[in-house]
Amino acid sequence: MPELPYSEKVMDHFTHPRNVGEIINASGIGNVGNPICGDVLKLYIKVENNIIIEAKFKTYGCGAAIATSSMVTELIKNKAIEEALQISNRMVAEALGGLPPIKMHCSMLAEQALKAALADYYKKQGKEPPFNIKEKHNNL
Ligand code: FES
Repeated sequence: MPELPYSEKVMDHFTHPRNVGEIINASGIGNVGNPICGDVLKLYIKVENNIIIEAKFKTYGCGAAIATSSMVTELIKNKAIEEALQISNRMVAEALGGLPPIKMHCSMLAEQALKAALADYYKKQGKEPPFNIKEKHNNL
């Protein structure tokens, strides 16, 4: 099989993923699966004073899924909830120096897990999330 042209950053985050693990008593947990391949990502966030102070993940998936999971945890750390809400799969892929077009769908796991974790956080606060978690994505 020919090798896919992964950027150095993708390879770095795939081989040395940041923030692997789980957070006990997480403020929010997002657990999502990719319907195309069956890969899964569980993302944990710890929020204090509206800031995401910690993020961890566990991914069962391809190299692109692991690299994007790792990168999304780095992108959301120390961000306000409102800032984290703006992060899209494209932003995660761009922060990794891009992904081959056929692997862009893998980056959706990161965005969807983030949205699911934020929705869980809002629900735990007794609030409605200010976005639709089931919203269709056109960012691929
Ligand atoms: Fe499943 Fe990449 S092939 S997320």
